[in-house]
This record gives sequence, structure tokens and C-alpha cells, in this order.
Amino acid sequence: MEVSLQVNGERHVVAVPPHRRLLDVLRDDLELLGSKLACGEGACGACAVLLDGRPVNACLLLAAAAEGHAIVTIEGLSRGRAAAVLEAFVVEDALQCGYCTPGQVVSATALLERVARPTRDEIRQAMAGNLCRCGAYPKIERAILRAAA
Ligand code: FES
Repeated sequence: MEVSLQVNGERHVVAVPPHRRLLDVLRDDLELLGSKLACGEGACGACAVLLDGRPVNACLLLAAAAEGHAIVTIEGLSRGRAAAVLEAFVVEDALQCGYCTPGQVVSATALLERVARPTRDEIRQAMAGNLCRCGAYPKIERAILRAAA
């Protein structure tokens, strides 16, 4: 089947089997490698992208189900709130291996678009679906607070 996807403001028509995941289309067909495959079952957030402004796990979403929605990947996040989040992650050194960082930035940006000045509890709640195996959580939290300031 053919699916028309709007990714980072650009339209892409891709031929996919009905069971193909959005994450695979993004990475393999569109060569957008920022969204990562880790658990592959919706538990870690490494594959997070924005779907109409909300963070979703692209490993759980069929590409066909994303048709008609605005998809933004980490590659499309560079302005406004996202720029502040990216800068804050660098300043706070909010990563170690960096594998989860794209998903963390996606979710943090979505949070700050929704809540301009989140509390620590709101940050922890919003970021609960993004795991960091290196344990950089305190720095990630500080980065989000910095980006919100
Ligand atoms: Fe999608 Fe872990 S790879 S949630």
C-alpha cells in the first residue's frame, strides 16, 4: 500500500506493507536516523516522535496510521522551545551515551509546548516514558528546568 506522510514539514509517499512500523519507515526509508530503536515494544521512549505535537513511540505506530498527521522527528526540532531544550541539554551535559537523547528532547519539547514552566513533578510525570540506562535523570531534569526558565 502507498502511504503519504508529512514528516518535518515535507510530504513523503512511501510504499509499505500494512504492518510496517512508522519507526522503520522513518529510519530505513526516509533515512532519518535520530529516532532510535531500543526496546521495540513501547517501554523506553528512544523512538519518540511528535504526532500532531504529542509524543508517541514510533515503534508502536503503524506507518499507515500516521497518514494525515503531522510527524516531527528530532531532525525537525531546531527552533523555539526545541532550540532551548537542545541548548539546555548541552549546557547541563544531560546525557552520557546519548542513545536515548533524541527521545528525551522530543518529549521535553512537547512538555514545554504544553506547560511553559513545569514543576519537577510535572517533568517527572511527562518524562516517565523516556528511560535512560545511563541514569542521567538529574541532569535531564535540570536541563528541562533550564529550558523553561
Ligand atoms: Fe520504541 Fe523503546 S524503541 S519505546
